Amino acid sequence: MIVLHNHHQGVRFVAFMLYIRSMKNIDNPQERIACLSRMLEEHNHNYYVLNAPTISDRDFDMLMQELQQLELEYPQYALPNSPTQRVGSDINRAFTQVSHIYPMLSLGNTYSIEEVAAFYERVKQGLGDAPFDIVGELKFDGTSISLIYENGRLLRAVTRGDGTMGDDVTRNVRTIRTIPLVLKGDDYPPFFEIRGEVLMPWSTFEKLNQEREQQEEPLFANPRNAAAGTLKLQNPAIVASRGLDAYLYYMLGDNLPCDNHYDNLQCARQWGFKVSDTMRVLHNLEEIKAFIDYWDVERRNLPVATDGIVLKVASKEQQEELGYTAKSPRWAIAYKFQAEEAVTRLNSVSFQVGRTGTVTPVANLEPVQLSGTVVRRASLHNEDIIRSLDLHIGDMVHVEKGGEIIPKITAVDVDSRPADSQPVVFVRNCPECGTPLVREEGEAAWFCPNSNHCAPQIKGRIEHFIARKAMNIDSLGTETVAQFYDRGMINNVADLYTLTVDDVAALKLQGRKWAQNIVDSIARSCEVPFARVLFALGIRFVGETVAKRLASSMKSMEQLRDATVEQLTAIPDIGERIAMSVVEYMNDIDNLLLIERLAQYGVQMRVEEKPESAPAENILNGASVVISGTFEHHSRDEYKALIERFGGRNVASVSGATQYLLAGANMGPAKLEKATRLGIKIISETEFLQMIGGK
Ligand code: IVH
Repeated sequence: MIVLHNHHQGVRFVAFMLYIRSMKNIDNPQERIACLSRMLEEHNHNYYVLNAPTISDRDFDMLMQELQQLELEYPQYALPNSPTQRVGSDINRAFTQVSHIYPMLSLGNTYSIEEVAAFYERVKQGLGDAPFDIVGELKFDGTSISLIYENGRLLRAVTRGDGTMGDDVTRNVRTIRTIPLVLKGDDYPPFFEIRGEVLMPWSTFEKLNQEREQQEEPLFANPRNAAAGTLKLQNPAIVASRGLDAYLYYMLGDNLPCDNHYDNLQCARQWGFKVSDTMRVLHNLEEIKAFIDYWDVERRNLPVATDGIVLKVASKEQQEELGYTAKSPRWAIAYKFQAEEAVTRLNSVSFQVGRTGTVTPVANLEPVQLSGTVVRRASLHNEDIIRSLDLHIGDMVHVEKGGEIIPKITAVDVDSRPADSQPVVFVRNCPECGTPLVREEGEAAWFCPNSNHCAPQIKGRIEHFIARKAMNIDSLGTETVAQFYDRGMINNVADLYTLTVDDVAALKLQGRKWAQNIVDSIARSCEVPFARVLFALGIRFVGETVAKRLASSMKSMEQLRDATVEQLTAIPDIGERIAMSVVEYMNDIDNLLLIERLAQYGVQMRVEEKPESAPAENILNGASVVISGTFEHHSRDEYKALIERFGGRNVASVSGATQYLLAGANMGPAKLEKATRLGIKIISETEFLQMIGGK
C-alpha cells in the first residue's frame, strides 16, 4: 500500500480520530456493525478507486479487525455486502450458471486504420448523415464481467461464459476492492447492469509469477490468463489475495441517467465505480486517428495490459438505431495493436537446472530493444519447441513480448541462415553434474535424476525448504544458503539443524546476533506442522495442496513411506503421476536417511492428533483472551477455537477483566496501548502455542 505523506498524516489522523470519537458512543452491536461497514467501504473507495487514502493502512486494518470480530460474535447483524467479504471466506462451492439479461457480445476487430475509416463511414451512412460522436477507450486485456446492482447494492456478478449464460462468480468478485459493494449517492437507477473488465495489474502479475516460480507452480502466460484463472478459483480467500482490479466500460438498463455513453460512465464514477480517465469523446476521423497513434505508444507506460482501443458511438439512441449483427454491435469496433516484435540473432542456447532437476533451455540473443526494455534472453520452454522452430545457432529470430513473462521466439528467418550453421541440440547430460538426462513418457521436459548430488538441485531444494510457505526459516536467504553450501557447511536440509552459532558467526564480522537469529529460526521450524514439512521436502509434483491432501490421509511420514501407488491414488486429487513420484522418493535410501535425520532433530513427522470437541485440558482455566493482529501458524478462527478448547474464553475487546492479549503481527496500536496500561499479559503466538503444549 502507498505510504502517506507526512504533512498529510496529521490531518488524516485527526479525521480518523473524529470518526472514532463519533463511533465511540455506539454500543449497540448492530449499529456499530453498520457504521463500521459504511466507514470501511468509504475508505476502500478512497484508497482503491480515488488513489487517495485518508487513513493509514494500520488504522484501516484496526477498523476491519473490529468489524470482523463483531460479525463473528453477532453473525445475525453482518451485512451481506460487508467489507469483510472482500477478504473472502474459505467455503468451497462450484459456480452456478446464470443467464445474462442482455447477451454479452464480442466486438468486431481490426488491425488497420483503413478499416477504422470504413467503420466510421458505415456508421455515418447508417445514421443517415446525422451528426454523431465516438467515444474512444482503451481495450483492457483481462476477462469481462457483468455486474447487476439492485437498489445500489451488488446483487450478482457473472462471467461472459458463452455470451448467453455465464458463471455466477459473485463471491469472488466481492473480494475485488475496486468494485463497489454498495453505491455512493442516491441517483443511480434502482436496477441496472454494468459491464467491465477484471484484470491483474502488471506489478501484481509479476509478483504472482515470481512466487509461483519459487514454488515451481506453472506460470501464467499473461495478466489476462492470470485474471481469468483467478476469477474461477473456488476459494474466495485466495482470490482476495491475488489483487485483482476492474475497469467498468458499459452500462445497460432502462433508466440510465443520460443518453450519452460517456456521460453515463461519468455518473458511474460518481457512484463509486472505477472508470478509466483515458476515455475521450472524439468528433471526427482525425481525432480518432490521433487517439490511436497516441495510445499505440503510450500503452507501454500503463500499469495494466491493453491490447487495443475500442471505439463506440456515443449516443445510446444512435447505438440502438445501428443495432447488432449476430455476433457484435454495429456501433462499436476494436482496433488491436500489433504485438511488439523485434528481429535479432541467436548467439547460443544455455541449459538451466532447476530445483527438481528440470532442464530448461534459454536462448541467448544479441541484445535488442523491445517494448521499452532491452531483451537479451528468450524462453525456449522445451526440446519440442526447439525442434518445431528448427532453430540453428546464428539464426535471425523474431522475438515477441505480447504479455509473456519473458519474450519468446515466434519465428526463424530461414533465408538468412548461414550455410554452415549448426542446429541447436538439446543436451543429453546434465550441464552441471554430467549425469545422463531422463525424459519420462508424456512429459515435455528432460530432467537430471542425480537429485542428491547435483549442485543447483541441492541449493534449490534448501531454498525451497526454508521458504515462508514451507519451513518458514525467514532469517535465511538465498545468498546465505549459497555461502553455507559453497563452504561445505551444509549439503542438505538436515545439515541446517546442525549449524551452531559459532559456525554461522564465522561468515560475518561481528555477526553473533545475526547468527543467533538464524540458529533460533531454524530451531523454531520444528514447530511447523507435518503437511508443510512434506511440502518443504520438495518431492516432485507435491505442491502445497497435494502435501495437505497427503498429510490428512496418511497422517505420518512412516505411513507415507510404506504407501503403494494404489493406496496413494485412492486419495482424492492424487493421480498416478504424483503417486509414482512419492513412491520413487520414498524408495531412495538417501531420502530416507534425510527424513530420519530431520526426525531426530525434532521436525514434525506426523499430524498432530487433535481430540475433537471436548475441552482437551483446562490449561487456560477460564482466562479471557483477546486476539489481535495476524498470525503465522493458525488463522484467527483457529486460535479462537484453540482458546476455547483449552478452557479459555475469547473476547473481542481489551478490558480490566482480560487476562491475555494474544498479539500477532500488525496489531492495532490502540489495543496494545490499552493492554499495556491495564497491565494485561501480552503473549506472542509462539508463547501461546507453548502455553497450550505446542498444539
Ligand atoms: S465494450 C458490446 N469496451 O473486449 C460491446 N469491451 O472483444 C461490449 N474489452 O468482451 C464490450 N476493453 O471483454 C468494451 N473498453 C472496452 C473494453 C472491452 C476490453 C473486452 C471485453 C469484450 C471484448 C470484446
